[in-house]
Amino acid sequence: MSLDQELAGRTALVTGAGRGIGEAVVHALAGRGAAVLATDLAEEGIAALEKTYAGLVTARLLDVTDSTAVEELVAEAEHTLGPLDIAVNVAGILRGSPVADLKDEEWAATFAVNTHGVFHVSRSVSRRMTERGSGSIVTVASNAAGIPRTNMAAYAASKAAAVMFTKCLGLEVASRGVRCNTVSPGSTLTDMQRGMWAVGDEEAAARRVVEGDPATYRTGIPLGRIADPSDIADAVAFLVSDRARHITMHDLYVDGGATLRA
Ligand SMILES: NC(=O)c1ccc[n+]([C@@H]2O[C@H](COP(=O)([O-])OP(=O)(O)OC[C@H]3O[C@@H](n4cnc5c(N)ncnc54)[C@H](O)[C@@H]3O)[C@@H](O)[C@H]2O)c1
Repeated sequence: MSLDQELAGRTALVTGAGRGIGEAVVHALAGRGAAVLATDLAEEGIAALEKTYAGLVTARLLDVTDSTAVEELVAEAEHTLGPLDIAVNVAGILRGSPVADLKDEEWAATFAVNTHGVFHVSRSVSRRMTERGSGSIVTVASNAAGIPRTNMAAYAASKAAAVMFTKCLGLEVASRGVRCNTVSPGSTLTDMQRGMWAVGDEEAAARRVVEGDPATYRTGIPLGRIADPSDIADAVAFLVSDRARHITMHDLYVDGGATLRA
C-alpha cells in the first residue's frame, strides 16, 4: 500500500521541529500529505522546512514552556490553517549530570520543556479535538523513562511523567474519539545524542553506545545500530494514521531492543 497521501487533508502541529527527530517527523507527515505547523524555539530549521514544502508546511516560533504562547498559537492556527487533527510533542532537552551535581535550574528547565511543555500543548489541542470528536496526539518520550540510567535522573523522571500524563489524557478523551500515544526512542543520531559524546572520535562513541557499558549497567543495542531520526518519525506517522485507529494509551519503544523491554 502506498503511504504517499495517507495523511492528505489532515493538519498537524509538531513541536521541536527544527532539527533531529522533530524535523524527521515533519518530513514523515508532510511526505504523507499532511499540512504541518512546524514549531521550534529556533527559526533556522523550521524556515528551511517551510521552504522545502512550500504551501504545505508553515513555520512558527514557539517555546513550549510558555503556556500562554502555546494557547495563542493553537487558537491562531485553528483559525488560519483549520482544525488540528494531529499534534506531536517532540521538543525536549537533556541536562546530563549525577544527581549530586544537578542544579535546581537544570531540574526545573528539564521539567519545563519535557513535562510542562507536553502538558501545555496536549491540553490546548485535546480540548478542541474532543469538541470535534476526533484527533491524535503523540508524545515523543524516551526509553530512559522505563529504565534507570546514570546521569539522567532529571531527564528520565521528566519523560516518565510525560508518558503517564499522555496515558491519563488518553483515558480521559478516548470516548470522545481522541487517541493519545507515546513513542519512546532509544539512542538516535541527532545533536542531542552527539551532545552526550566527548568531542573527538564519533565512530568510537557510537560503537560504545551499540556495545553497551557494564560499568554504568547499560545494555547495548541488540539490533546493532543507533536509530536514524526517520526510524522514530515512521513510528509517529503510523500512530497518527488511521492504521492505528484502535491504538491508544500505547507506549511504542523504538530502541533496537536496548531496554530488553524490561
Ligand atoms: N536523540 C536521542 O537519542 C533521543 C533518545 C530518546 C528520546 N529523545 C527525545 O526525542 C526528542 C527530540 O530529540 P532530538 O534528539 O531530536 O533533540 P535535538 O536536541 O536535536 O532537538 C530538539 C529540538 O527541540 C527544540 N526545543 C528545545 N527546547 C524547546 C522549547 N522550550 N520549545 C520548543 N522547542 C524546543 C530545540 O530547539 C531543537 O530543535 C526529545 O524530546 C528527546 O528527549 C531523543
